[in-house]
Amino acid sequence: MTVNKVIKVGLIGLGGMADAHRRMISELYQLQLSALCDVNDELLNKVGEEEGIGEEKRFTEMESLIQDPTVDAVISIVPNDLHAKVLELCIHHQKPIMAEKPFTLNFKEAEYLAELYEKTPIPCMVGFSYRYIPAFRYAKQLLAENKIGTLRHIEVRYLQSFGAPIFDVPYLWRFNKVVTGTGALGDLGAHMIDSARFLVGEFKSVSALMRTFVPERRDPASGTMHKVEVDDYVSFHAVLEHDVVGTFLTTRNAIGSGNQHEVTLYGDIGTINVNCEKPDEVRLSFIHNKELQTSTETLEVPPGYRRQQLEDFTVLVTGQEHDGIPDFHDGYQNQKVLERIIESAEKSQSVNIDE
Ligand SMILES: NC(=O)c1ccc[n+]([C@@H]2O[C@H](COP(=O)([O-])OP(=O)(O)OC[C@H]3O[C@@H](n4cnc5c(N)ncnc54)[C@H](O)[C@@H]3O)[C@@H](O)[C@H]2O)c1
Repeated sequence: MTVNKVIKVGLIGLGGMADAHRRMISELYQLQLSALCDVNDELLNKVGEEEGIGEEKRFTEMESLIQDPTVDAVISIVPNDLHAKVLELCIHHQKPIMAEKPFTLNFKEAEYLAELYEKTPIPCMVGFSYRYIPAFRYAKQLLAENKIGTLRHIEVRYLQSFGAPIFDVPYLWRFNKVVTGTGALGDLGAHMIDSARFLVGEFKSVSALMRTFVPERRDPASGTMHKVEVDDYVSFHAVLEHDVVGTFLTTRNAIGSGNQHEVTLYGDIGTINVNCEKPDEVRLSFIHNKELQTSTETLEVPPGYRRQQLEDFTVLVTGQEHDGIPDFHDGYQNQKVLERIIESAEKSQSVNIDE
């Protein structure tokens, strides 16, 4: 596809996260929202009216949208159990896709997709959105400039509070193992893994602990209680590339944390801290004189580090050279690490990523 052509985008799944994608599409002249799909008719028509999309481009079947010749590329924001299906259809119809995370429901699905993808690849981006927090991008640059010396260890946290028992949240799809695969792990842990892979490199081994704090939740429709088979909490240790070690924590039970993803990188001569709640700041501690005194500065992220996620999708779709875009391989590797974390927690032992 030529670089200057406007890319007509079809959106599949019009729930909560679709609002963010609709806003991002509207910000970019290269993208034009041209088709919609959702199984919820009422929502489909509401969004159709808001976006000025004709009834003939409002679909309830995802394959109808994917194979529509007027749709150049797909953005998929459906629940986790449908991620593999959308990706498979996009590979089959050779349609570029931006797919939300987690990559798939489990690693078996990721392996199946990898076989298809190797035969007939497509431009494929995965929604690891924290790569687009300016502070995270600047932290990567500061590491490359050797500002903190040899990196020894990292600490990664992703904290939310919405699942805490006190809030008595009903049995949503995010608690249903058949639909979601995992709980906090795939929802938030997938982002932690991607941030670590983006900033440091590949995972070599993991040692994990998983817990479910709320064992039953009430179905909002029927009023009956459902057993919850996915995690509310995961912590793990990991060894990454260059023997960097890491500690990771994610929970839906952190009262006071709405949505807090934080990474601290510890080097021999300094420390870098970034937090998505302060997207334009990096805290840098470093040894600043011969007496080995330490300073801590809050650096404002320079302008060159602001990049909108879907801008990179247009780069991928138009076949331009790129670096650092979360793609099919990143989705696959991410899912492999998620699988090994579950395996490690079940066995109560350390597990190598590549067995
Ligand atoms: N990158 C991020 O930071 C981020 C943030 C939030 C959500 N997400 C991901 O986005 C995905 C969706 O999350 P959400 O919060 O928007 O969920 P949601 O439940 O609010 O929306 C999902 C939508 O998909 C629709 N849907 C269900 N089955 C469908 C089908 N067969 N065909 C078409 N539409 C269908 C539903 O009707 C609903 O409107 C999840 O995989 C989630 O992990 C990513």
